[in-house]
Amino acid sequence: MTTQYHDKVLSQAALDQLFNDARTYNDWLDKPVSDAQLHAIWDLMKMAPTSANMQPARIVWVKSEAEKARLAACAMEGNQAKIKAAPVTAVIGYDIDFHEELPWLFPHTDAKSWFEGDEKGREEGAFRNSSLQGAYFILAARAVGLDCGPMSGFDAEAVNAAFFADEPRHRVNFLCSVGYGDPASIFDRSPRPDFDTFNTIV
Ligand SMILES: Cc1cc2nc3c(=O)[nH]c(=O)nc-3n(C[C@H](O)[C@H](O)[C@H](O)COP(=O)(O)O)c2cc1C
Repeated sequence: MTTQYHDKVLSQAALDQLFNDARTYNDWLDKPVSDAQLHAIWDLMKMAPTSANMQPARIVWVKSEAEKARLAACAMEGNQAKIKAAPVTAVIGYDIDFHEELPWLFPHTDAKSWFEGDEKGREEGAFRNSSLQGAYFILAARAVGLDCGPMSGFDAEAVNAAFFADEPRHRVNFLCSVGYGDPASIFDRSPRPDFDTFNTIV
């Protein structure tokens, strides 16, 4: 049985690229990221699971200098230069009304009806599942050879007004810069807890 698992485990190089050697970058090399690379991130992350395949994440990829300046103006001071320097920063949001899409996203049952009239439940589901999608985003970006710089230091109301004004049911979850990270911009790796510190097997 264990052999089956070992047959499928990724190479050490792949594990290192996704986890062990991957870092959060604070500055970026002057190397562009193509739209095809952004599509590649989406095409991987969309395959990872969300509840009832609800796929609540709504992403605005901020690439132009003008839009970067608008986004940076919504961020905490420490994040402003990072957003301006990154080739792309994704505004990872979520749709409170994701259930409207369920008839085609989850066609084998009437999942839309589960969420109708339950805005609190939708908010909870959208936030939980878009957070998962944000994590899938980071791993997908690393898998295609890019680096990430996730950020939660921003004024959410300002980001919503600036980037989701036409979609009042969309809300920002977090921001994530994407590009080729400048190795000079990382801190020493912070400690990571051993299994026994935060885990219990019962
Ligand atoms: C959701 C999220 C929000 C974060 N917000 C910020 C932020 O606003 N500003 C910042 O400089 N770093 C931010 N970070 C970066 C974290 O501090 C960093 O990912 C963590 O310390 C791990 O660093 P490492 O990947 O280099 O080991 C954020 C990370 C995540 C995942």
